[in-house]
Amino acid sequence: MKENISITVFDRDGQRHDLDAPTDMGMSIMELCKAYELPVEGTCGGMALCASCHVYVLSEHELPEPSDDEMAMLDQAFFVQENSRLGCQLKIKEAFEGLQLKLAPVGQ
Ligand code: FES
Repeated sequence: MKENISITVFDRDGQRHDLDAPTDMGMSIMELCKAYELPVEGTCGGMALCASCHVYVLSEHELPEPSDDEMAMLDQAFFVQENSRLGCQLKIKEAFEGLQLKLAPVGQ
């Protein structure tokens, strides 16, 4: 089976976390962060409805295009930047090896 990959997440204090991520479980970035007890709420359970999993993509990885639902949610989210994504919509796969993300500030 495939090996795990490494994903780096900077939390809201700028602290770096190197996470070991499985590629064969259909796990999302939001779920990975929660598994490592990073402060990601995932309030809507990954339905692209809450933006509590909002992250900034720091590395140059080519990621799947955001869906209309993701775009719509990001439209309403706070602190949105060009590199904003919803962690719950990013399913971990091998191509994410070395991905670097930063948790976006909490909106309210
Ligand atoms: Fe709610 Fe991602 S967990 S939008």
